[in-house]
Amino acid sequence: MSTKKWFESWFDSPYYHILYKNRDFKEAEDFISTISKNLFKSKDNLLDVCCGKGRHAYTFSKLGFKVEAFDLSPKSIAKAKELESDTLQFYVHDMLKPFKENHYQYVVNMFTSFGYFESDNENKSALKSIVTNLKPGGYFLMDYLNANYVNQHLVSEETKQLNGINFNINRKIENNCVIKTIDFEDKGEKYQFKESVNLIDANTLTGWIEENKLAVLNTFGDYQLKPFDTDNSKRLIIFAQK
Ligand SMILES: C[S@@+](CC[C@H](N)C(=O)[O-])C[C@H]1O[C@@H](n2cnc3c(N)ncnc32)[C@H](O)[C@@H]1O
Repeated sequence: MSTKKWFESWFDSPYYHILYKNRDFKEAEDFISTISKNLFKSKDNLLDVCCGKGRHAYTFSKLGFKVEAFDLSPKSIAKAKELESDTLQFYVHDMLKPFKENHYQYVVNMFTSFGYFESDNENKSALKSIVTNLKPGGYFLMDYLNANYVNQHLVSEETKQLNGINFNINRKIENNCVIKTIDFEDKGEKYQFKESVNLIDANTLTGWIEENKLAVLNTFGDYQLKPFDTDNSKRLIIFAQK
């Protein structure tokens, strides 16, 4: 029996990348160009925390930022390394530990790459490590789910057919976590994976960010940076300064 945590096995599996294949470089490109035009106006150094295969990091580097990025998944980082250049490097690293303290003008954490630990204390300690990487005066951008929206619009059962695989997805809310169970069969073998993300609401999360002595400058509700609305926004995008 594997003792790995759900996020170590699921995100390192090829099936995560099949199920989420619409979360691609094109989506990242559109969002990053909006961020770069409206929020990150100087092309300085940037850290992408939980970068996956590097779709946001790559786009920032193409726009002239000097980018470093890390993820816990060795397979994602091996793939991301194919994109490396003078201004783009990838590392395997755990967000619970600081990477380079007081080093970056920008730190980003994209597409719900937070809230994976069981206790608030561990999630808060991850957040503390993430923002430690910022220089004083540097900017933090976090792209997280809107807990209130997830609570109101939970789709409890869904089937998705992708690459010839039928993914059966069940969602429930338990202990303030949205738990997604993913069952499927591939090449005669049965698989089950799980995702469990804490539903941290906007006030709590902005409060945690402020506890780390950052000022929350703005909150947005989607990738076009419309203002955050607790009932209708799908995303919670927090823009803060150290
Ligand atoms: C939902 S994915 C998003 C990936 C990427 N930001 C994107 O948008 O494509 C979450 C990522 O967080 C990474 N992750 C999970 N726990 C981590 C940890 N403790 N430290 C660093 N990365 C972690 C996973 O491996 C996965 O790549």
